[in-house]
Amino acid sequence: GTSQVTCTAPVNIAVIKYWGKRDERLVLPINPSLSVTLSQDQLCARTTVAASLDFKKDRIWLNGQEQSIDAPRLQKCLGEIRRLARKRKHEEERMGDLLGCCVHICSENNFPTAAGLASSAAGYACLVQSLAKLFHIDGDVSHIARQGSGSACRSMYGGFVEWTMGKMEDGSDSIAKQIAPADHWPELRVLVVVVNAGKKAVGSTEGMQTTVKTSALIKYRAEHVVPSRQEEMRQAVLERDFQTFGEITMKDSNQFHATCLDTYPPIFYLNETSKHIIHLVHRYNQHHGKIRAAYTFDAGPNAVLYLLQEDLPEVLALFHHFFPATTNNSERQFVRGLPDVQ
Ligand code: DP6
Repeated sequence: GTSQVTCTAPVNIAVIKYWGKRDERLVLPINPSLSVTLSQDQLCARTTVAASLDFKKDRIWLNGQEQSIDAPRLQKCLGEIRRLARKRKHEEERMGDLLGCCVHICSENNFPTAAGLASSAAGYACLVQSLAKLFHIDGDVSHIARQGSGSACRSMYGGFVEWTMGKMEDGSDSIAKQIAPADHWPELRVLVVVVNAGKKAVGSTEGMQTTVKTSALIKYRAEHVVPSRQEEMRQAVLERDFQTFGEITMKDSNQFHATCLDTYPPIFYLNETSKHIIHLVHRYNQHHGKIRAAYTFDAGPNAVLYLLQEDLPEVLALFHHFFPATTNNSERQFVRGLPDVQ
C-alpha cells in the first residue's frame, strides 16, 4: 500500500538576522537569531509526501517540476529522518514496511521562489514536517530542518521564535524554540512590500560564505553586537514594547546589509526602491515622534514592515501614495499578514 501525508508550513521573517555559518555541513550559525512566523493564509509552502514499496526510487517535484533528488541538503534531511525512524523501529511495528519504501515528494509555494521571501525556510520546514509525520516521528525536528536551510528551523514553530546558536559540535543544541505564541501580541502586523519578485542576485548560502570569509564587520557583529541584541529583543517581545522592537529590527537589518557591503567583492541586496522605503519609514516615524513602522530586508530588495494594527490604515495609505501598486502584479504588491500559530 501507499501512505501519504500533506503539511503546510509558514514563512518567518527575522528581526535579528542569521548571516554566517560556523559549520557548513551541519548548518550551524555564528550568531543566534529571532523571528516572527507569519500566518499561513497568504504565504506558505505545501508539501505532500508519499511512501510506497512500488516506488523504484526517491523523487521530488517543486512547483510541478521534477528536481534532482541528489541535492546534498535534501539528501541530508531525508537521511536524518530515516535514521531517526530506524532508531524508533523497535518501538513500532508499522515502521518496518515504511523503512523499505522510496518516497515521492511534491512541494509548492504560494509566493515567488528565491525572491528573498524566505521560500527555502517554509519549503524545508514543510518537507521535514511532512517526512516526520509520514515516518511517525514526534518531538522536535528543527535540527533536521536546519540542515535543509538554516532559517527553516524557525518556521517549525508559530509566533515568536528564537534559533539558539548552540555550543555542541554535533549541532544538537542549535535548535528553534518558541519564546511566545502569536496571540501574545495580537496587535502586531506584518506588511510585505514586494519591490521585485525576480530571483535574487546572490543566494544566501553563497553570500554568507563570502561574507564570513572576507568581512571584519561580520565577526564584530556576531561577537559583540548580536548576543546582547538578542536578549534585548526577546525582552521587547515579552513586554510587547514596540519602540524597542522596532528600533532593534531596523538596526539589525541595516547592520546585516552593512556586512554585505563590507563583503569583498561587495553584495548589494537593497535597490533604489528599498532605499526610498527606508527613508520614507524614518521620515514617517520622525513626523510622529515615535516608531510607528519598522522595516527589515532579507537577501533581496523586498521590504517587510512591522507595525501595530491601529497604524495599519495610515501606513497602507502612505505606501499606496508613494509606491502605488502597479497593474503588474509582481511589482510593488502588498501582502498583509499577521503572526499566527501554525
Ligand atoms: C537574510 O537560511 O536561506 O534571510 O542556511 O544557507 O540555507 P542557508 O541560508 P538561509 O539564510 C537566511 C538569511 C536571511 C536572514 C534570516 O532569515 O535570518
